[in-house]
Amino acid sequence: MSDVITARHGTGVCEVTLQRPDVRNAISTQFALDLTDTFHDLARDPDVRAVVISSSSEKAFCAGADLKERAGFSDDDLLAQRPVVKALFASVRDLPMPAIAAVQGFALGGGFELALSCDLIVADESAVFGLTEVTVGLVPGGGGTQLLARRIGAGRAADLILTGRRVDAEEAVRLGIVDRLTSPGQVRGTALDVAETIAGNSPLAVRAAKRAVRAAFDARLGFDVEDSAWHAAAVSADRREGIAAFAEKRSPNWTGR
Ligand code: COA
Repeated sequence: MSDVITARHGTGVCEVTLQRPDVRNAISTQFALDLTDTFHDLARDPDVRAVVISSSSEKAFCAGADLKERAGFSDDDLLAQRPVVKALFASVRDLPMPAIAAVQGFALGGGFELALSCDLIVADESAVFGLTEVTVGLVPGGGGTQLLARRIGAGRAADLILTGRRVDAEEAVRLGIVDRLTSPGQVRGTALDVAETIAGNSPLAVRAAKRAVRAAFDARLGFDVEDSAWHAAAVSADRREGIAAFAEKRSPNWTGR
């Protein structure tokens, strides 16, 4: 079974569906490579006018990094995986056509960052968002510190990032995380409808407008600072403890080293 499904809809809409339901679409190295290849192909396809990212599972859009895979990682393994993960998030952010996240269930850590990398977030009432990295000894490394702060403001982003707390769909709408809220089961349909509307407009004008909206914030320096922060946490004893504690289903014992 392939873990990435692509399907064409209407005139110029491509849906990319995440399909690793047993691990809540957690992002392993191979999954990141497969997704990046998919987004690079779409970026080069002049017939694609809008992209929807969805999940085959009602339970989760994506639960972030594959912590089970990482439980067996040395520091060197984690550092070696880093460029693969960064390339995935860049491949979504750099799509020349609009991208819409269709979120149902959990969007945590890198899963939330995947949604934040899109231009629009559509979610249903089951959605739960969180940048939970600090709870496992890490720092968001997929652009989340920058993209969330820009989306909802620095104070509200700090509340979520520093506590690692999760917010339900209603709070996510209030905070400005979710652009359109739907009833359960309607999220794909709504996201595809929005994508069809976008795809019905001038492709040239839409791509140019996307570039202009993105230019409202130049996040390059911020992404570099986030990368340094991620590296500082990645080689810490707390990071190893956080991931071991997740795998062993227990609370972590932080040492601050
Ligand atoms: N990496 C690897 N496996 C994961 C995972 C992740 N990020 N998230 C969930 N899974 C696995 C679980 O280990 C479990 O596997 P098992 O059946 O072999 O025990 C399976 O997916 C289902 O997870 P479970 O916790 O039983 O389901 P749930 O619906 O009650 O909860 C989550 C789902 C996503 C809330 C919960 O699994 C969770 O908190 N995951 C970690 C999310 C996280 O912190 N991500 C950020 C990492 S930086």
